[in-house]
Amino acid sequence: MDKNWRFHLGDIHMPDCRHVWSKVRTASRGPVNPGYDDSQWRELDLPHDFVVENKFSKDSRTVEDRWPLPMTDTEQTAAASHGYLPTSVAWYRKRFRLSRRDSMKRIWLVFDGLYRDARFWLNGLYLDRHQSGYTECRIDVTDLLVYGNERATGNVLAVRVDARQSEGWFYEGGGIYRHVWMEKTDPVAVAPHGAFVWTRNLKGKGKLRVAELEVRTKIRNDTDDAVACRVVCGIVGADGRTCAQSKESLKLAPGSAEELVRPVTVRRPLLWDTDNPHLYTLVTEIIAGKKTLDRTETPFGIRTIRFDAARGFFLNGKNIKLKGVCVHQNHAGVGTAMPDRLFEYRIRQLKKLGCNAYRCAHYPHAPELLDACDRLGILVMDETRSFSSAPEFLRQHESMLLRDRNHPSVIIYSMANEEGIQNTAVGDRMMQSIRRLARSLDPSRPLTTANCDGKLWGRAVSKWLDVQGCNYCPEEYDRFHRRYPKQPMIATETSSRLTTRGVYRCDPRRGHVDAYDREVCDFVEGRMPAEAMWRGIAKRPYVSGAFVWTGIDYKGESTPYRWPTVASHFGMLDSCCFPKDISHFFRTWWSETDDMHLLPHWNWKGREGEIIDVWCYARHETIELFLNGKSQGTRRMPEMGHVSWQVPFEAGVLEARGFRDGDVVAVTRIETTGHAASIKLETDRTAIQADAEDVAVVNVSVVDDEGRTVPTAGNPIAFEVSDNARIIGVGNGDPSSHEPDKAKTRRAFNGLCQVLVQSTTTPGKIGISARSPGLVSGELSIASKRCRHRPWL
Ligand code: GAL
Repeated sequence: MDKNWRFHLGDIHMPDCRHVWSKVRTASRGPVNPGYDDSQWRELDLPHDFVVENKFSKDSRTVEDRWPLPMTDTEQTAAASHGYLPTSVAWYRKRFRLSRRDSMKRIWLVFDGLYRDARFWLNGLYLDRHQSGYTECRIDVTDLLVYGNERATGNVLAVRVDARQSEGWFYEGGGIYRHVWMEKTDPVAVAPHGAFVWTRNLKGKGKLRVAELEVRTKIRNDTDDAVACRVVCGIVGADGRTCAQSKESLKLAPGSAEELVRPVTVRRPLLWDTDNPHLYTLVTEIIAGKKTLDRTETPFGIRTIRFDAARGFFLNGKNIKLKGVCVHQNHAGVGTAMPDRLFEYRIRQLKKLGCNAYRCAHYPHAPELLDACDRLGILVMDETRSFSSAPEFLRQHESMLLRDRNHPSVIIYSMANEEGIQNTAVGDRMMQSIRRLARSLDPSRPLTTANCDGKLWGRAVSKWLDVQGCNYCPEEYDRFHRRYPKQPMIATETSSRLTTRGVYRCDPRRGHVDAYDREVCDFVEGRMPAEAMWRGIAKRPYVSGAFVWTGIDYKGESTPYRWPTVASHFGMLDSCCFPKDISHFFRTWWSETDDMHLLPHWNWKGREGEIIDVWCYARHETIELFLNGKSQGTRRMPEMGHVSWQVPFEAGVLEARGFRDGDVVAVTRIETTGHAASIKLETDRTAIQADAEDVAVVNVSVVDDEGRTVPTAGNPIAFEVSDNARIIGVGNGDPSSHEPDKAKTRRAFNGLCQVLVQSTTTPGKIGISARSPGLVSGELSIASKRCRHRPWL
């Protein structure tokens, strides 16, 4: 249902209507009325984030806000939190038709994510309200739809969202920012998210290995008759062969639902793990007589998980340290409306650092993100937005648990982040109810909450946690472990080190922080450099691992400076996923790489003779640094640290040689570059699908005559693409850039910027060009290929 929507920014007065979501009769005027003229509204396809389309503004709260009143402190904090992009109410409308045959079916509208407080009307009738900006919204619309020629206009769906209220202290976007689906089933069918499979046990080794699975199937009978049917659950491998099956006969009473729970055994299973993320499919069929009433396919993985209080995390019996990152769901150029492909791109960039775990901070992320983690072998901490057991929030928890429980990547649920109430008697009771709910829907995964007040760990919620989640406070790890030696632990959040890519001196005026990993420039209280943090985690086997705040920069939460900073810079990667120097620290110690990394750059024209702090990340025993062939000394590499030299600047070549057992095993160089001469375009893909969804991430560098990236270049660049593609956004990783994301131009920031190119349904060669005055243009072409497996196009 993503295609062909109409959009209106701002609210619309509805005549005769005291409240926009009032009942059926009064609400059938204005934009909710099927006959309403929306021809002037903008046409667009989803996903869509309208907030990212707005202009940065230091003191505007909402789009409608016209009052010239000075902002209060609280309002200023809110503006900084949300990235200085005004929020708003907005409307969406969509027309669609259904055949007469469809009236025999059960039909659902499924919104994967809307920000926020969405209200829905179908054919002038009020449908539902969904407050959460992060959970799935699923509405049974069977009765309210019109079929065939029942009404000349067909169906008209109207959605109003109100993004003015926030749920968090970070950029949240606005609009229908994830996919929308229509699901049609027989009235007797697998209930939504009703198929669930998990690995109870793995027995034996090698050829004798056996996986004991539990398969649950919830079936609904939405008819007025009793129905006799067979439920067939097949476990199908990647080769398409069914390797195990369960069959059951069932009689469903009229209007009832029932859940079957059955053991299934798979011999010689291919396990899901981080190196080989093998997937299976659970195929569930509901058969009556000879007719298959329903058939669902649920991808899953066979694997066991265990958190041990002394030794940390085990996947399939193997001890793995979680090298994790916390991430928010937005990317340069598109905000929260991320095309599916971008999730995969981001995960791949994180994997290059040796990262093996991802925390969905601080809410359930898109299903496609979890799909990417399943395919790429990343372990996920899934998280709910609000800690509470009030009915609305239990519904939110349930929504996450049901949606995500089949993903092999998900290894733990976090039911809260830093909520003061966690440490109270109320929090204690709430956690018990939440745990009861979680256990009933998914007995296979442990629960944690992210707790920041280290001195209180062990109290209230902690008593009900399978794994104690620790935000910061590393000085409390040992105390907690001594006092509660039977409770596993995980550093749910650590470090919060701030760095701006390619900046080597703090600049409060521009809102930039230097990229050396040390405690400087208005450092956020209680946070620590990455090196000290990771040493503390690595040497404690009882800490299962850490989720570093953050893997990727995100919009909003401007820290430590506010305006002109409009985005955070906690990331190892910037908001385009360009690596910062700090990412090389993690890459060095998280992966087995022999690569070395030197910082800063070596373009300090005008600072000749000045001492420059040169750092090197590497795993080799000793490192010798040379400037223009002259040794600057040899340093012994401390474990999980770096080595440094004080080098008087002289243009030329800095070279580091890494030694092991006296031999040079690696060399890296940085060179003073010439002037910016041309633009270089690179992409991770040579071909994308011609489906109007797929995206090529095009990374742009400004290079000198010898093709070296000029690390200080800030040239403005204009992009063009051929008619069979479109530019959906641009970015450059500068947390203080006020250039629009939705544009065809962008300045390079410290040599780099990015353009996101989306296919259309027209296949053929996509041409991309980049121009800037005084530079040789960059050109790139990729193939856009017709795709077969998107039947709705
Ligand atoms: C944590 C919080 C994160 C982020 C971080 C910044 O306390 O959980 O959402 O705000 O601080 O350091």
